[in-house]
Amino acid sequence: MSGRAEAAAVPRHVAIIMDGNGRWAKQRLRPRLFGHRAGAESLRAVLRACRDRGVEYLTVYAFSTENWVRPEDEVSGLMSLLRTFLKKDEHELHENQVRLRVTGRIQDLPEAVRAELERVMAATKTYAKGHLILALSYGGRAEIVDAVRALAAEVQAGKLAPAAIDEAAIAAHLYLPDVPDPDLMIRTSGELRLSNFLLWQLSYAEFYFTETLWPDFREADFAKALDEYARRQRRFGAPS
Ligand code: IPE
Ligand code: IPE
Ligand code: MG
Repeated sequence: MSGRAEAAAVPRHVAIIMDGNGRWAKQRLRPRLFGHRAGAESLRAVLRACRDRGVEYLTVYAFSTENWVRPEDEVSGLMSLLRTFLKKDEHELHENQVRLRVTGRIQDLPEAVRAELERVMAATKTYAKGHLILALSYGGRAEIVDAVRALAAEVQAGKLAPAAIDEAAIAAHLYLPDVPDPDLMIRTSGELRLSNFLLWQLSYAEFYFTETLWPDFREADFAKALDEYARRQRRFGAPS
């Protein structure tokens, strides 16, 4: 035993900022939704790659709290694409025993989308071979705000002492407290920022950035990211 905090060869949880759909479509002189549709194919490919390589949790940033400012036709196109994805791919979740979950302010989503999500989440909730988490109307700051509100309500009700609020208490009030923190965060399309994604949970994740636009990101690109992850040394504050 070296005593060092080595990264396990395969990350247990991968989080992805699926970015670049609009630029991919623009390069082809097609509407943005064309890019989002191609991006859904990349998600299918990466989900299969997770299964094949033993990645247990996949969280994908599909729609941020900030994305509501986009033109109405793009927002509604994304919402209907999400419904199509749920309908077309539900059988794969069953076949592979993958549980679907959502992180974010699900109450902000249109009723029809919400109903479909609730249905598939309920139908897959006993599965544990894999976990697909869709970040929808998700914002890292909004998540922390929601956790703080819940904690404040407990303090006000006399159920919690302010001094008892520690990191574990905050983590326990996030949207999916039972999900382990991501080990690897991937962002496509060359942007080097978090855009409000999983601010709390990514504290010690390894970051991987690629110029590849999300619709072009497939198994081989994912394998490259995992290879790079396997070469990283995670220290968690310990000496090198
Ligand atoms: C990511 O692609 C998908 C969503 C944010 C919904 P974009 O739509 O942000 O694509 P670019 O960044 O404009 O190329
Ligand atoms: C982040 O991408 C959100 C998703 C991928 C869903 P954006 O394209 O919205 O991020 P910014 O605006 O470039 O920071
Ligand atoms: Mg973008």
